[in-house]
Amino acid sequence: MKKYNWAILGCGWIAEIFASDLKVLDNAVLYAAASRDISKAEKFAEKFGFQKAYGSYLEMLEDDKVDIVYIATPHTLHCEHTLLSLKHKKAVLCEKAFAINEKEVQLMINASKEYNTFLMEAFWTRLVPTFKKVLSIIESKKLGALKTVQSDFMFHSPYNEKSRLYNLDLGGGALLDIGIYPVFTALETLGEPKNIISNAIKSPTGSDEHIDIIFEYENDQKAYLRAGFKNDAPNYSIFHFEKGTVQISREMNCPIIIKTEGGIQELKEDDGPGYGYYFEASHVMECLDQGLIESPILTNEFSLRLIKTLDKIRAKVNVVYPNHD
Ligand SMILES: NC(=O)c1ccc[n+]([C@@H]2O[C@H](COP(=O)([O-])OP(=O)(O)OC[C@H]3O[C@@H](n4cnc5c(N)ncnc54)[C@H](OP(=O)(O)O)[C@@H]3O)[C@@H](O)[C@H]2O)c1
Repeated sequence: MKKYNWAILGCGWIAEIFASDLKVLDNAVLYAAASRDISKAEKFAEKFGFQKAYGSYLEMLEDDKVDIVYIATPHTLHCEHTLLSLKHKKAVLCEKAFAINEKEVQLMINASKEYNTFLMEAFWTRLVPTFKKVLSIIESKKLGALKTVQSDFMFHSPYNEKSRLYNLDLGGGALLDIGIYPVFTALETLGEPKNIISNAIKSPTGSDEHIDIIFEYENDQKAYLRAGFKNDAPNYSIFHFEKGTVQISREMNCPIIIKTEGGIQELKEDDGPGYGYYFEASHVMECLDQGLIESPILTNEFSLRLIKTLDKIRAKVNVVYPNHD
């Protein structure tokens, strides 16, 4: 089995979760942690067992032993950090939102092709067994056609102009941070809408603190999507079919609840150990084993379709990112 040296670029909150999931993969070597602050990188490396710590992203990228870089910086920096990593011929797994807008995502895809180097959006939920099972239920047509999707992602995070969630310079806003999941859910199950309706409640920075979105389709199919930082919520995705409903929760490692006239059935997929992020890490290494520069599942087209839809929604609620739009 070929082993790959992983490096973390940006030692923040999600990087910790991802690093702990990497540990469950036999072919992943926890090689380097890179932070803008060497003492932070050293603490991170020690906590998770990385062999090296770097106090500069560039220094880490200049290390020939690094094979794959996981980019976990704020969204406004994803494009810059991805371009730099690809230029150093490192395979890239970059967090969502992949970038701020379509233009930036296109630059990243172009660089992947130019440097003939792997690039994938870290859209972990697409690869977990629970979501794959929902897709297979839809495809099977056992419950008839899918008519409506409801999907929420909300949690309470009080206003703080400096926080990544509110600061526009760091890509603040509910849509790109968590609304991206309900939008993804609708795109993957119902496809691209023919019409989008959206309203936002703005924070004092001009970011979307809460956003409501409706996708309208042919044949009266609809998606009702919500995201925001104003309050906690149960955060379910509910799929309404002609002959029943299917419900999952946002954490993904949850039972799938299927309700039909015949009763209620609970399915539980084996989501394995960890938080579920190791599926994406494992998938990256499978792609590299095959010499690919693009995932056959989380394709460039997937990322483009997602960001184009996010751009359309954002234009409707007039959220603008300075120095990016
Ligand atoms: N897949 C998921 O489930 C999931 C969950 C949460 C977040 N995310 C995504 O992951 C990314 C990071 O989110 P997070 O919650 O981990 O954020 P975070 O805790 O703020 O960490 C971001 C890290 O980026 C680095 N960074 C570089 N330049 C920065 C700057 N100018 N300001 C602030 N930080 C800077 C910092 O690392 P150093 O100080 O070490 O350089 C910081 O710790 C976001 O794009 C977010 O959407 C994904």
